[in-house]
Amino acid sequence: MHDKISLVLNEVKQFSAKNKEDLEKFRIRFLGKKGILNELFASFREIPNEEKAAVGQEINALKLAIQDRFEKLSQSLKGSQEQEKAIDLSLPGPPIPNGARHPISIVRTQILQIFERLGFNVSLGPEIEDDWHVFSALNFPPEHPARDMQDTFFIQKDPDILLRTHTSSVQVRVMESSRPPIRTVSPGRVFRNEAISARAHCIFHQIEGLYIDENVSFADLKQTLLYFAKEMFGEEVRIRLRPSFFPFTEPSAEMDISCQICGGSGCNVCKYTGWLEIMGCGMVDPNVLENNKIDSEKYTGFAFGMGIERIAMLKYQVKDLRLYFENDLRFLSQFKSAY
Ligand code: DAH
Repeated sequence: MHDKISLVLNEVKQFSAKNKEDLEKFRIRFLGKKGILNELFASFREIPNEEKAAVGQEINALKLAIQDRFEKLSQSLKGSQEQEKAIDLSLPGPPIPNGARHPISIVRTQILQIFERLGFNVSLGPEIEDDWHVFSALNFPPEHPARDMQDTFFIQKDPDILLRTHTSSVQVRVMESSRPPIRTVSPGRVFRNEAISARAHCIFHQIEGLYIDENVSFADLKQTLLYFAKEMFGEEVRIRLRPSFFPFTEPSAEMDISCQICGGSGCNVCKYTGWLEIMGCGMVDPNVLENNKIDSEKYTGFAFGMGIERIAMLKYQVKDLRLYFENDLRFLSQFKSAY
């Protein structure tokens, strides 16, 4: 009996389990109903009484050794399985998703690049401005409705500090700090006290253009804007200039492009006119030049201003302005660009 027990003990110690099946074999062989341990307990009855105590101790020690070995084998099996899962060096790395530029950034870059090709530089100005740069220097009369609290976000009254309502303020900053010839485009955020809806937002983006030199004429303005429209919307596009009014330009105009959806035959996007309005423009009012100490006898200039969201809406057919501000990845990830 003693020899048998030590043989079994040896086998237990040497047993190794490479997988679950091996472990199950171990359990059945040693701990199962008809396993070796139960067999030994069964033959215990036949042991002479005087040996029972010693053999009993040996069988109990064997039982503990088997249980202990079983526990160790199953632990090491679990460990190695987890390890296999954790570091499989042959797996390819997880994909890193590509980011994309915001559609407003894409369109802004595109517009700026078109004017840069014509020799315009890019200038920036502050979003928090004073009355002079946003209104007074641009020839807004003191009682002009655009100065009203209903349109403008004031930060402070007297002296007036406010959030710029248009990027035309950067015109003034450029005229203050440089002399003609001036050819500049000024992108930036603007702020108006509007209720947020699909068609209006209290924050949006504009690009302002300014060209001042000797002998700049309305024909130069028209040709520059035609070039812009063709670069932006394609060779087929047609433009028209409608008389309008802005305090800082004289004469002033609004520029329309032929409808990009119906090609000019009329649809619900262009409200059956065949035309879409895209920007304001005009010849810089001599008062604006004089306000900025530029000799209006010697120099003339043109200016224009457009909303980036408006151009993006036409380009991408996204009609709800709010989508541009919500940063919803389901919307943003649809835009890819080289810029
Ligand atoms: N500042 C005008 C606006 O926000 C846009 C504009 C119109 C700019 C005519 C100009 C211009 O430079 O000449 O509505």
